[in-house]
Amino acid sequence: LKDNQESAKGSRPLHPGWEISRSSLKLGKILGKGQFGEVRMGELRKRGITQTVAVKTLKAFSQEKDKEDLIGELDILVTVGRHDNIISLVGACTVGGPLTLVVEYAPNGCLKDWLRNNRPTEMNRTDNRNNGILLPMEQLITFGIDIANGMTHLASMQCVHRDLAARNVLLGKDLTAKISDFGLSRDIYEESEYVTSTQSQLPIRWIAYESLFYQVYTTQSDVWSFGILMWEIMTMGKQPYGRMTGKELMELLPSGYRLEKPALCPQDVYEVMKSCWETLPENRPTFPELKATLDRIIQDHK
Ligand code: ADE
Repeated sequence: LKDNQESAKGSRPLHPGWEISRSSLKLGKILGKGQFGEVRMGELRKRGITQTVAVKTLKAFSQEKDKEDLIGELDILVTVGRHDNIISLVGACTVGGPLTLVVEYAPNGCLKDWLRNNRPTEMNRTDNRNNGILLPMEQLITFGIDIANGMTHLASMQCVHRDLAARNVLLGKDLTAKISDFGLSRDIYEESEYVTSTQSQLPIRWIAYESLFYQVYTTQSDVWSFGILMWEIMTMGKQPYGRMTGKELMELLPSGYRLEKPALCPQDVYEVMKSCWETLPENRPTFPELKATLDRIIQDHK
């Protein structure tokens, strides 16, 4: 454990063009908390203009690994550049105090919370045997298109996300989905895949077959996670595989066992998610193909 109040002192900015002075940043309420630290709402004053931002900081005493992840996240955001479906970097405070990441504020919060808060209630669930009210299916498919769009950009920048899940997607104004949380992302420019030496604490339910069994991460393993994320969307935020344990899941996947079609999910959308769970990565669709297929499906649903 290292005191981050001290660790950044006296060094040079990590990305000089992105350095923000600590005095121009005013912190507000907590938006989220993790083991790493916290995310707060903030106000950034630049040339007389005040902008609402989200500010990610480490706990005062944190693991060296958490710090590396946050520096990695900053590096990735600098590399990836601007895209409407990726949370954009505003800047960072990397000298004179704890490492602080400043990103675009997403006014509609995280996708997982939105899904859970917008479930049809008993009140507005009608009783026709069709299983209740129609979900705003177009909106749900649009989330998928947005995410496939952002992932297409990320993949083109040789970046694997490795933690694509509804909890790591934020919603901008007009409910534009924005991919976030790049702490575990890796640049695969040199090798086109990332192989871990240690089994990480990544959430098993979202992890691709080859990553689970061989620790190999590629853009095609992000496609597997995208399929799980589509399942989260179509269930309005349910836990994939319910109460099954990670050990049970690892025993079942090799026999071809996969998530079932959610009750309200159209068959064509289920076919898309199932294709993301092909055992062989090369048999899964690519992100540009996923975007094109979902575009076609939403036209058919209109
Ligand atoms: N929670 C975590 N990060 C956020 C962000 N950038 N905007 C809004 N809420 C968040």
